Amino acid sequence: MDARFQRRVQRYGWDKAAAYYEQGWARQLEPAQTRLLELAALAPGERVLDVACGTGLVTFPAGAAVGPRGAVVGTDISEVMVARLRQAATSRGVANVTAERMDAEDLRFPDGSFDVVLCALGLMYFPDPRKSLQEMRRLLRLGGRVAVAVWGARDRCGWAEIFPIVDRRVASEVCPLFFQLGTGDGLGLTMEMAGLTDMTVDRIATTLHYDSGEEACGAAFAGGPVAMAYSRFDQRTREDAFAEYLASIEPYRRGDQYAIPGEFVVARAFRAPG
Ligand SMILES: C[S@@+](CC[C@H](N)C(=O)[O-])C[C@H]1O[C@@H](n2cnc3c(N)ncnc32)[C@H](O)[C@@H]1O
Repeated sequence: MDARFQRRVQRYGWDKAAAYYEQGWARQLEPAQTRLLELAALAPGERVLDVACGTGLVTFPAGAAVGPRGAVVGTDISEVMVARLRQAATSRGVANVTAERMDAEDLRFPDGSFDVVLCALGLMYFPDPRKSLQEMRRLLRLGGRVAVAVWGARDRCGWAEIFPIVDRRVASEVCPLFFQLGTGDGLGLTMEMAGLTDMTVDRIATTLHYDSGEEACGAAFAGGPVAMAYSRFDQRTREDAFAEYLASIEPYRRGDQYAIPGEFVVARAFRAPG
C-alpha cells in the first residue's frame, strides 16, 4: 500500500475510533502497557516522548512517574486523539503532559531532546517502522532508552481475522504488515537495524475479555484500526461482517462472554552512550 494512503487511513480511522477506544481496548492492552512502563523504568525529572500516544493510556502514567520536574510529550497522527489527550490533561489538572499531532516518521524535535521514548501498540500501523525507530533514536540523548510494545504473532492472536474480513469488503489492505513485527525476531531485528543496542525483548501471552459478542465487535470494528473502512459499510455489510467475525472467534466463546487469546511483544533498547 502507498505510504501516504496508509497514513491517511490511520489518521482518519483513529479519529473515528477515538471515542470508543478506551472502552474497547483499555482493559485489553493493560498488560503490554504495564510491562512497557516497567522496562522503561522512568525516573523523576526525566523528559519523555510517547509516540502514537492515543488517548494517553501510557502518557499519563509516564507523567506521574517523572513528576513535576519531568515532562512527557505525546504525539499522534490523529487530531482527535491529540485533542482528547489535551482535554484529559486539562480536566485532570496534569501540567507536565502535553500533546502534538505528528507523524511517527517525522518527529519534529531537536536531536537528543529526550531521556526516554515510548511507543505502545503503535509501530504496527506505521508505513516504515524502521524509519520511525531511527527517528526515536535520533531524539534520544546518548545512553537514552526506548521502550516499545507491539502485538505478537498472527497465529497467537485469536481476533486476527478482523483484517481479512474487512479487507474483503474494501478491496485494499488496511494494515498490510500488522503482524510482521510480532513474528519471530521481527521487532528486535528492526530495532537493531535502527541503530538501537543492548536489547531486552519479552513475549507476553494474554487474554482479551469481552462480556458479549456486541462488545467484541464494537472493539474490533469501531474502536480500532479498521474504523474508517467500517464507517463506510452499509447496514447489510456491517451485519455480514459482524457475523463473520463472531464465527471466527466462536472457539473462544464461553456462554455470552469471550476470552480471546492474544500475544504482545515488549522490548527495551538503548542509544549507545557514545
Ligand atoms: C492502538 S493505538 C495506541 C495508543 C496508545 N499508545 C495506547 O497504548 O493506548 C494506536 C495509535 O497509533 C496512532 N498512529 C497510527 N499511525 C500513526 C503514525 N503514522 N504516526 C503517529 N501515530 C500513528 C493512531 O492514531 C492511534 O492513536
